[in-house]
Amino acid sequence: MTATAPAQAVDPRRYFESVEAKRSQKAERLPVCVYLETTNRCNLLCTTCPRTYAELEPPADMSWALFTSIVDQIPHLERAVMHGVGEPMLVKNLPKMVRYLKDRGTYVLFNTNGTVLNDRNGRALIDAGLDELRVSLDAANAEAFMAIRGADFFSRILRNVRRFRELQVREGHERPRVSAWLTGLKETIADLPAFVRVAADIGVKEVYLQRLVYFENESIGNARPDQALFERMTAGEAVYLDEAAALARSLGMTFSASGAASEPGMSLTRASDGSPWSLCRRPWSVMYFTANGRALPCCIAPFSQRGYENYTLGDATQQTLHEIWNGPGYSSFREALLSDQPPTACANCGLRWSL
Ligand SMILES: C[S@@+](CC[C@H](N)C(=O)[O-])C[C@H]1O[C@@H](n2cnc3c(N)ncnc32)[C@H](O)[C@@H]1O
Ligand code: SF4
Ligand code: SF4
Repeated sequence: MTATAPAQAVDPRRYFESVEAKRSQKAERLPVCVYLETTNRCNLLCTTCPRTYAELEPPADMSWALFTSIVDQIPHLERAVMHGVGEPMLVKNLPKMVRYLKDRGTYVLFNTNGTVLNDRNGRALIDAGLDELRVSLDAANAEAFMAIRGADFFSRILRNVRRFRELQVREGHERPRVSAWLTGLKETIADLPAFVRVAADIGVKEVYLQRLVYFENESIGNARPDQALFERMTAGEAVYLDEAAALARSLGMTFSASGAASEPGMSLTRASDGSPWSLCRRPWSVMYFTANGRALPCCIAPFSQRGYENYTLGDATQQTLHEIWNGPGYSSFREALLSDQPPTACANCGLRWSL
């Protein structure tokens, strides 16, 4: 395993391509991307989110000591995602953490629910050098927002984001790139064109349709098969997608859906050999750390509430990253992923996600 920079530069937006097709239970190089769950606290109750339905871990913000210890062990980290399951903007140290990563040349982003974005913390994030701010809105109106996200914050978020974009335009800041995200649900797919208009109205030029992650046997709230779009989208629903795409084009915006939405490494197309998990390269490129230091293979694992313990691959408060990354937990997880009998969550992953 090497801690040196890759021979070829890695595009932080397509970091998963850095992994060779030929893989083994050992990773040849350190992860190129980490998910840092800066907090597991939240102020919303989204009906798609595992956090609303179970306390996966004791409430915590990631300590500065844990944060720096993880980051310092990956000298050439390409990309850091600063959310897990929780709202990162509730963390006081967040801009300082962003700055710490930017000083090391890492591409930094996070998703936020946008509820507490204001002039002060917005400016601090700009000054810290944040690359992307992804606002999860999930709705085109207050009523749908309430139904999906569980609190009456829709207009407040629009106001916050609009003010932030005005500040960026007024002062000529191109970073962070701000985008608006909608989790694809049967319940809200018809609102997609309206969602594009809402984004345009608050000055956001990038819209993303996020695939719903759900588990067939462990459905929670709206994260359930009958809300999914992937391989279940009707011709009528596809029309909304086309309409939204045409509208975005006419407004000079980008609209990314399906594979381009989040992690293109996970194909949206059902693998013809019936083993979609074989496409996954996350355990060779990504590490996910919870606020308490638990190492998980990916950002999907927390959504599988049952069996969470099975996805625990180490503890960054007790072990070095080297010990975790090529230790017994990771090695056997990789081995299983390369076999016909993958870990349970992986067996359905990719196959059962929706748009
Ligand atoms: C768990 S949240 C954490 C960050 C922040 N609290 C937020 O909501 O953006 C990360 C992303 O997961 C999305 N999300 C929630 N439930 C989901 C699900 N079942 N499938 C796919 N994405 C989901 C959220 O909308 C958000 O964009
Ligand atoms: S999706 Fe984000 S905002 Fe919603 S409950 Fe989960 S962590 Fe909180
Ligand atoms: S659950 Fe398994 S297959 Fe899915 S992203 Fe995570 S590691 Fe990859």
